[in-house]
Order: sequence, then structure tokens, then C-alpha cells
Amino acid sequence: MILMKDIVRDGDPVLRQVAQKLTFPLSDHYRKLADDMMEYLVNSQDPKIAAKHQLRAGVGLAAPQVGEGVSMAALLVPDDKGEIIFKEVYVNPEIISESVRKTCLGEGEGCLSVDKVIDGYVPRPNKVTIHYWTVDGEEKTIRLKGYPAIVSGHEIDHLNGHLFYDRINKENPFALDEDTIVIY
Ligand code: NI
Repeated sequence: MILMKDIVRDGDPVLRQVAQKLTFPLSDHYRKLADDMMEYLVNSQDPKIAAKHQLRAGVGLAAPQVGEGVSMAALLVPDDKGEIIFKEVYVNPEIISESVRKTCLGEGEGCLSVDKVIDGYVPRPNKVTIHYWTVDGEEKTIRLKGYPAIVSGHEIDHLNGHLFYDRINKENPFALDEDTIVIY
């Protein structure tokens, strides 16, 4: 199982590289990687398992974060009651369209690969259309808004070598367009 010691931290070049696209059928190695990444997220959101293995809670994990420079990311997004509202492993995902209107988390974002807290709003499109393949090679196009769109943006950023704090306004970390939706 993936543990915190397996998670690549900011400063490692793999986090700044554009991930390689995968080809189908996926090898057993990458199918297992998908399972392992999702297992980390499930375990990390279970208070008992997380405490036992000292896992930091996560809602998304991209392959470069475990040292694999390929275009795959797992998402396990709960609502504010802890019910899972979005669960998927993206392979070769791309945001093919996005709203002009932005949204962001009122508490800012964090990342399993970034150990320090970095304050500031991380504005992202409020609505996105994502094209991707499933682990089984099924091609999909989905529309997401709000929190699942934010998490998807964060993970797809990882696959393009970007980290969340790249999107924070350097002069004024809490500057926002006036119509930005802030999620609390
Ligand atoms: Ni991250």
C-alpha cells in the first residue's frame, strides 16, 4: 500500500514534468498503480486506518506524486457530510472546455506533495468539461462543477507539471474576480 513515505514532495523534478500519455490496454503495472492510488485515498479518509498508518487525508492523487511520470490520477471527492460524490481514476485526462467564471475554496488548497501551508485563494474554472479514459480503456466526456471541478483541476495540473500555489496571485494572495464563487 502507498504510505506517506512513498509520496514525492515538492522539489522533486517529476512534479514539474508533463506526464506521459498512457496507451491501452494498460499494463498490469499501471492497473495496479490505479488501484493503489485509489486505495490510498480510501484509507486516508478512514480516520482509523489513517491514524494507524499516519496518512494525510487526500481527495486526489496523481501518478507523478508517487514518482510515476504518467497521465493518471485518482479522485475520491466527499461532500461536507463525508458522502462520496465523485470517484474515478482518470487516464490521459484533458480539460476540453471551461467556464469563464471561477470558483475557489475559502480555506485555500493543500497537496500531499506540499508539506507547508500556503495561504491564498486558488481560482479555478467553476465548470469544466473533461475528456479522459477509464482504466479499462473506456473513453468518457463529463461535465463537473464546484468542488469536483476544483479537485479535477488540481489533479490535471499535476499531470502538466503545475502545483496549486502557482495559481495564487503573487501580489495579493486573496484577490479574486468579483463573480468568483468561494466554497466553504
Ligand atoms: Ni496535489
